[in-house]
Amino acid sequence: MLSYRHAFHAGNFADVLKHSVLTLVLEYMVRKDKGFTYIDSHSGAGMYSLNDEYAQKTGEYKGGVAKILAAVNDDNFPEALMPYVELLHKLNNENDELDIYPGSPGIAKQFMRRQDSTHLFELHPTDIQHLTEFCARWNKSHVKQSDGYKGILGLIPPPSRRGVVLIDPPYELKEDYVKAVKTIVKAYKKFTSGTYILWYPVVTRERINAMEKDFSRSDVKNLLKVEFCLQADSEEYGMTGTGLFIVNPPWQLENQLSEILPYLKAKLGEDQSTFTLEKLIEE
Ligand SMILES: C[S@@+](CC[C@H](N)C(=O)[O-])C[C@H]1O[C@@H](n2cnc3c(N)ncnc32)[C@H](O)[C@@H]1O
Repeated sequence: MLSYRHAFHAGNFADVLKHSVLTLVLEYMVRKDKGFTYIDSHSGAGMYSLNDEYAQKTGEYKGGVAKILAAVNDDNFPEALMPYVELLHKLNNENDELDIYPGSPGIAKQFMRRQDSTHLFELHPTDIQHLTEFCARWNKSHVKQSDGYKGILGLIPPPSRRGVVLIDPPYELKEDYVKAVKTIVKAYKKFTSGTYILWYPVVTRERINAMEKDFSRSDVKNLLKVEFCLQADSEEYGMTGTGLFIVNPPWQLENQLSEILPYLKAKLGEDQSTFTLEKLIEE
C-alpha cells in the first residue's frame, strides 16, 4: 500500500518542527570541514510547490510554514528558527510569496558540500521519479527505489564516521512504529556516534509510549524527545500532534528547541496546545 503523498502535507505544522530541526542539525554538521553522510530513508519527492493542486487541496501549509513566515518580523521571533526561514527565502528567490517548499532532500541539498555524500530512499513510483529528477545534477547524491530501513543498515557506519540519518515513514502501516525504532537500535550498534532523527505523528499515544519503551530497553544513549501537539490526545481526530526522537543531538539543539517550541505554540497552536522537550536517555 503506497497511497501516502507528502505533497498534500508539505509545509504543515509537523513539517515546520521536523524541517527546522533537520536544518539545525545539518547546519551544525557543516561547521566542521570533515565530510559526512546524510541518509534519508523515506525521502518523498524532494521539493514541492505550495501552489500545486495537492497543497492547495488541503491548505495545510497555511496553518504551518505560512504563519511562520508571516511572523518573521516579530520582535520575539526565535533566532533558532532563522536558518529554516533563511533557507526558505533563498529557495524562493527572496520573494515574500512562498511557492517552493523543500522536502527533507531539498533541505539537505542546501547544505551538502563536495566532501559530503547523500543517500535517498523512496518507494512511491511517482515520487521516486520527481526525486530522481531533482537529484539529477547533484554530485554525490544516490537515489534508490528500495526499502529505506534496509538501506540504512547497508550504509553504516559511513567511511567518514560522521553521519545524519533521517527516518520519516508515513505510518500508513502500524508496523512502521516498531520497525523504525528497531532500525535505529540496530544501526546504533554499528554506528554509535551517528545522529538519528525519527519523526512520528501523535495519533495513538500507546504507540509512542511503546516506542519509548523499546528505546529504553536498548543500548541507545543520548536520546532527546521533542513533541508539539495542537490538540489533546484523541484517537478520533487523526494526527493531533507531532514529535521527533533524536539520538545524539548536536549539543545546542535542546536549547534551540526550548526557544522554538513556545513560539510554535503561540503562533500555530490553540489554547489546548502543548509541547514537550525531554532527555529520555542521558549520554
Ligand atoms: C512522510 S513522507 C517523507 C517526507 C520527507 N522525508 C520530507 O520530510 O520531505 C514518507 C515517504 O516514505 C515513502 N515510503 C514508504 N515506505 C517506504 C519504505 N519502506 N522505504 C522507502 N520509502 C518509503 C512514501 O512513499 C513517502 O513518500
